[in-house]
Amino acid sequence: MNISVKSLAESPGLNCIPSIYAYSLTSTDPPAASDLQDAIPTIDFSLLTSPDPHLRSQMIQELDIACKDWGFFRVVNHGVPESLMNMVIEKAIEFFDLTEEEKKEFEEKDVLDPIRYGTSFNSKKDEILYWRDFLKIIVHPEFHCPNKPLGFREVLLEYSKRTREIVKGLLNGISAGLGLDQDYVEKALNLESGLQICAANLYPPCPQPGLAIGLPPHSDHGLLTLLINNGVGGLQIKHKGKWVNVNNDVPCSFLVNTADQLEIFSNGKYKSVEHRAIVNNAVTRLSVVLANGPALDAVVEPAYKLVTGERCLPAYIPMKYKEYLEMQQGNKIVGKTCLDRVRV
Ligand code: SIN
Ligand code: FE2
Repeated sequence: MNISVKSLAESPGLNCIPSIYAYSLTSTDPPAASDLQDAIPTIDFSLLTSPDPHLRSQMIQELDIACKDWGFFRVVNHGVPESLMNMVIEKAIEFFDLTEEEKKEFEEKDVLDPIRYGTSFNSKKDEILYWRDFLKIIVHPEFHCPNKPLGFREVLLEYSKRTREIVKGLLNGISAGLGLDQDYVEKALNLESGLQICAANLYPPCPQPGLAIGLPPHSDHGLLTLLINNGVGGLQIKHKGKWVNVNNDVPCSFLVNTADQLEIFSNGKYKSVEHRAIVNNAVTRLSVVLANGPALDAVVEPAYKLVTGERCLPAYIPMKYKEYLEMQQGNKIVGKTCLDRVRV
């Protein structure tokens, strides 16, 4: 593996980045529009799962609009204890604080390895390296976890269980919002065996933050991604052609984005949102991301009931999720180029 960004950032006297990290924002890059972040939709999970049909249907409508207009929203009142969310962040930080020797055991080999520690995105393929170290763990349908740091396993297992309930509730709401039975997505994509990958991303302080990038613009491979971070900003999403800063300023909330499999399944009604992570020169940023997808052997294609009206032709070819995942994780990550490969 290439040297971790953490060790690089900690090398004494580092005041400029090695040229391999130089990422040029091109002139076609849309300008930042930080003022828009107050407009990011909020979904109240307790209303989405309310026994009161009126409250529930109102939230389903808001969720439909959030997926259509933004592909991004905050989820509040979800019932996952804040202490558990904080502990996940803490344990992830403790993992990166292990020695390189200890972390080496999990060094990335195959993209479907249950535990992968690495740097950049796909450092075997990346020509430019990204200012980010990562740990990716498959936590469902089979649960895996490094045996260090102490307590990581228990915390992550509980976190995976609790968040899968949220994903199920959101996908039920999304299913209903698409005009399908509420358990349609769940059944069609066999979510009982759905893949859940937990990725912890570490972005150490960077001496030249304007010249490097944590993660370049991309969309995610699954259905829905849930994200939390250590309170340090850096995530930007592309909204109507502009980059919008997303700060984690609502306590105990999840940031959620729609991903590629949902774009395919909805026949393009919900677009997977492009996002990127920028870096800063003052503090370490850490995010913990849960990618939630269909079962690995599910074949994903536009739901036939959604191939109608102005979308009367399927806009994507059918593909097994496992093949899609290997294609997305095994290549360079560039915008939505992976999704473009399955577009009709
Ligand atoms: C990601 O896109 O996987 C990470 C985004 C972030 O660190 O906020
Ligand atoms: Fe992402």
